[in-house]
Amino acid sequence: MLWVKAFHIIFVVTWFAGLFYLPRLYVYHSMATDSISIERFKLMERKLFYGIMTPSAVLAVLCGLTLFIGYGIGMKAGWMHAKLLLVLVLIAHHVYLGKLMIDFKHDRNGHGHKFYRWLNEIPAAPVLFLVVILVVVKPF
Ligand code: HEM
Repeated sequence: MLWVKAFHIIFVVTWFAGLFYLPRLYVYHSMATDSISIERFKLMERKLFYGIMTPSAVLAVLCGLTLFIGYGIGMKAGWMHAKLLLVLVLIAHHVYLGKLMIDFKHDRNGHGHKFYRWLNEIPAAPVLFLVVILVVVKPF
């Protein structure tokens, strides 16, 4: 069980690395005007999303579900139910970042850099704080 939890935490960390870095790339991509930079951002975004973020998300969730369903940890616990709700928000945010990547790929981005500066923090940062507090402190 501890090996599964160790890998769960490792993949959560690599997932969040992408959740914080991809919107940062969008900040600079939305301000770029020369085609060399624009093509470089498209390549970086694609590699980050498909090469790191999505595999990390899948492995983090699979390890988490193994702990939850396989070992029955937190099965009837309020903290776990609240955590799962927040994880759904995170998965929806991940999918939305993917949709924005495809918009950028087709040069049809509709947002300015200020929007992406907010997206860089929300909802990833508050969800990270809340989920880690829920799973470590188990307040209810
Ligand atoms: C469907 C997704 C997820 C499920 C089913 C899940 C489930 C679990 C379970 C059952 C544990 C063991 C808790 C314990 O031993 O007390 C755990 C540990 C942990 N989870 Fe998740 N988790 C998921 C996603 C996440 C996410 C997205 C984060 C980060 C934001 C996260 C952060 C952690 C941390 C830090 C621990 C270690 C807690 C400790 O050892 O005290 N998990 N998870």
